[in-house]
Amino acid sequence: MFVSRVILKNWRNFCSTDIQLGQKVFLLGPNACGKSNFMDLFRFLRDMVKPGGGLQSAVQRRGGLSKIRCLSARQSPDVEIEVHLSDSLSQELLWQYAIGLRQQNHGYHRLYLTYEKVRKGDKLLLNRPDKEDKKDELRLTETHLERVSANREFRDIADFFESVSYPVPQYIRHPDFFSGIPEDQFGQGLMERIEKTFMNIRRSRFKKINEVLMTAIPQLRELTYITDNIGGPHLEAAYQHWYLIADKQREDQFSDGMLRLLGVLWALLERDSILLLEEPELCLNSGIVRQLSELIRRLERTQKIKRQLIISTHSHELLTDKKIRGNEVLLMTPGNDGTEVCVASDKEEIRNLLKGGMSIAEAVLPLADPSNISQLGMLFTDPAKSD
Ligand SMILES: Nc1ncnc2c1ncn2[C@@H]1O[C@H](COP(=O)(O)OP(=O)(O)O)[C@@H](O)[C@H]1O
Ligand SMILES: [Mg+2]
Repeated sequence: MFVSRVILKNWRNFCSTDIQLGQKVFLLGPNACGKSNFMDLFRFLRDMVKPGGGLQSAVQRRGGLSKIRCLSARQSPDVEIEVHLSDSLSQELLWQYAIGLRQQNHGYHRLYLTYEKVRKGDKLLLNRPDKEDKKDELRLTETHLERVSANREFRDIADFFESVSYPVPQYIRHPDFFSGIPEDQFGQGLMERIEKTFMNIRRSRFKKINEVLMTAIPQLRELTYITDNIGGPHLEAAYQHWYLIADKQREDQFSDGMLRLLGVLWALLERDSILLLEEPELCLNSGIVRQLSELIRRLERTQKIKRQLIISTHSHELLTDKKIRGNEVLLMTPGNDGTEVCVASDKEEIRNLLKGGMSIAEAVLPLADPSNISQLGMLFTDPAKSD
């Protein structure tokens, strides 16, 4: 399954957005246009349905509805989210899930649902508020999707949202520093995921990861999974130095780039439904970044199940790959009424440039620059030249 369409009202920078998504999505746009906020929608849905989560805590984690609601929202006060899920192979529309959120402007200022709807194909399975909700309005502080006792008919949606993943591998190295951050899955979470994977699968994934890492980090001889004497999971990298002495390091000594690459590779080899990669180019050598898109494609080919990949990037290198298609790129442009999102190939000028043989880096990336960026270098006058 994959998210094939997202309709947002008043979600952060996105006052009113209706956009189709494919199975691979590159998010491009200037700083602060909302790439991370767009990705956060998927984390929000995950927070809503995960065990111990729920609508209230998902909103609270984000500082309350007033932080989520678009600052330039005019008419409707509600935050509205609608997500369509389609079959990865046939592209057939399977599910539609929609909620509206509002905060009471009196009493306890409770956050409540103005509606919750689920459609399976063209059949409306859930349409709240229903009779029970009208009798007891507190029910509207929870979604049916988050409640196992209420979501039996459409649990596939909850399971799908729960498997959203987003690697932040630097957590591995500083687990104590990040321990206050609830459940962010990679980091110690990555170690747990590696530990819980069946031995045979783990071995085959490490084989692939080693092939990539050994190319990217020439002195690396092997990365292995080990357990310490109390059974704790660890990663061990063996290096061969010029003086031919093998040296071993544990995960807390790995470089940022190595952790990042490792986290991205492991996530790509997992079969979760949606993988969010925020600026995967960070900490990585430009040669690796240039190969990343091809590498992702190859790894995908080795997986039987197709998964959705949403990648935000500013990287010219990543986008030089000419196999990235215009309809895989969403261009975000900030404006007075929030950020506008469009599929890059819907713009004729971009289509023509791509047809003429340009890469996304050449055809689209310049449009992701802020309009007056060329002035940046002129901002501060040279005191020697000024009066
Ligand atoms: N509720 C909101 N309404 C409007 N803008 C918001 C809201 N919440 C955050 N923002 C804006 O979103 C911007 C950050 O977006 P972000 O997704 O981090 O950008 P990017 O990842 O593209 O650099 C900030 O400028 C912030 O002011
Ligand atoms: Mg960002």
